[in-house]
Amino acid sequence: MYRSHTCGELRIENVNEIVKLCGWVQRIRLMGGMTFVDLRDRYGITQLVFNIAKNKDLCEMTQFLGREFVIQVEGKVIERSSKNPDLPTGDIEMDVETLNILNPSEVPPFTIKDETDGGEELRMKYRYLDLRRTPLQKALELRHKMSQETRKYLNEKHFLDIETPFLIRSTPEGARDFVVPSRAGEGKFYALPQSPQLFKQLLMVAGYDKYYQIVRCFRDEDLRADRQPEFTQIDCEMSFVEQEDILQTFEGLAKHLFKTVRNIEFEKPFLRMSYAEAMEFYGSDKPDLRFDMRFTNITDLVKGKNFKVFDESEYIGAICVKNISEYSRKQIDELTEWVKRPQIGAKGLVYVKFSPNTSGIKSSVDKFYSADELKIWAEKCNAQEQDTLLILCGEKEKTLVALGELRLEMAKRLGLRDSKTFFPLWVLDFPLLEWDAENQRFQAKHHPFTSPHKEDFSLLDSNPAEVRANAYDLVINGTEIGGGSIRIHNSELQKKMFNVLGFSQEEAEKQFGFLLNAFKFGAPPHGGIAFGFDRWTAIFNESESIRDVMAFPKNNAGRDMMLDTPAPISQQQINELHIRCV
Ligand code: AMO
Repeated sequence: MYRSHTCGELRIENVNEIVKLCGWVQRIRLMGGMTFVDLRDRYGITQLVFNIAKNKDLCEMTQFLGREFVIQVEGKVIERSSKNPDLPTGDIEMDVETLNILNPSEVPPFTIKDETDGGEELRMKYRYLDLRRTPLQKALELRHKMSQETRKYLNEKHFLDIETPFLIRSTPEGARDFVVPSRAGEGKFYALPQSPQLFKQLLMVAGYDKYYQIVRCFRDEDLRADRQPEFTQIDCEMSFVEQEDILQTFEGLAKHLFKTVRNIEFEKPFLRMSYAEAMEFYGSDKPDLRFDMRFTNITDLVKGKNFKVFDESEYIGAICVKNISEYSRKQIDELTEWVKRPQIGAKGLVYVKFSPNTSGIKSSVDKFYSADELKIWAEKCNAQEQDTLLILCGEKEKTLVALGELRLEMAKRLGLRDSKTFFPLWVLDFPLLEWDAENQRFQAKHHPFTSPHKEDFSLLDSNPAEVRANAYDLVINGTEIGGGSIRIHNSELQKKMFNVLGFSQEEAEKQFGFLLNAFKFGAPPHGGIAFGFDRWTAIFNESESIRDVMAFPKNNAGRDMMLDTPAPISQQQINELHIRCV
């Protein structure tokens, strides 16, 4: 038996027991005739004592120890004279009687502590060392708990966990596919699934009315903090359901995870908001509602007073920011430069400060508007003393988005995006289609299998842009955690949808013939949702990036730094795959 206990287990009750521990050497300190070693495993740290007065040879062996050596020790648990209240094992230490070096270690390239000195690239190269650090171990434990609790909830509701293939045919879900060349089929390729979308729908046709899978998905898209080329979904589908059934079932899952993983109870139903409302008042389809700053449309109020900038704008919107009326000229100028950055794209920023200390109301447009007029704006925007209105104007859609970015930036500056507060929200009624200006055609906003609202059917021909979808997203703290829809289950409507999306009948048959066919054999009404498991875990872990909750993530350029891949393959492999590299 290598060990009787873990390094996080021993307490005062174990004093006088003879125990065996294994682990990694975290730290060695020589103090007088004593050597202290912190021994670490994933459960914690136990202090070991080697006493020269008791056993000189043993104590001398510690000279050969270094950081990250793997050792086994046996000895007696004793009470510490100076206790460490910060450590769960801090009341005791082990008086070592035998030491066995199981494996030496080279000096690690960075220190393996909570606050490490290693840069991100270095830590990714030595990910197995980074994974020894407590924050990462805690993140992976939390991830494990999330997946266990998800399974528990869905299993209890009689969902079946069914695997679907990874070598599939390219399906249109918005991103580029990763493709795998086929050796046997010359010039042919598999694609890795962007999601199991089509398979879960076929499982519904097959009668497996409640499906789930915690499944890897692959998307070749530009990477960000919340995007990886391979990531995990909690993918679900149900038959004989309407949107409300899906929302209820998965709000239940969310509440279960909040309760079991974060010990947070949501008694009230999650807030629901239409896509149109989210865009109009927050400039985003995933509004962060941990704070207010809802937009006020002041277009009608401010136009027609000879202020050209406003008069020429389609839309003028304000956010009311609390307690920043003392912002200096310099701070406002800096904010103005911030909104003018190409990523935000505003032409300028108008402010109105309601300050009790200075001359009352101060604004960048007080040449055009009287104090009384500005007071009316304040009332409309619910601004009080010490608040400031930040106003953007221009073309409506663009201005709403810019105002949304400004809202998030102000919340960040004011410390309102607290990672310990959670605000879940359902966003509903997404548009079915969006205009792809580059290719001059409509594309599916969610995916081509999403059903339109019944009452908007007639608009499919006359005004496709206005058709709303039976599609919904779960948003937590401004992050899209999951999305889904009620599907089309009728082959004629599915054909029509492909038609609106500009697929010829032939193309549709070629790409989706199997689905259109399946729909002819008794497809039940069905719908589902998929959650970004990494994103959800990152939010619960209070992490900025999903990389922090993945064991072996890729860097921002999509490279695995440890495996040093993507990498070339041998000429023989290339030949076998009938590929020519140009
Ligand atoms: P969607 O494309 O919205 O829907 O994806 C579902 C959720 O997956 C997460 N996600 C990602 N997470 C990390 N890295 C990525 N690159 C990435 N891309 C997406 C997001 C997102 O909300 N088949 C449909 C679901 C359905 O209709 O049932 C689908 O995949 O959190």
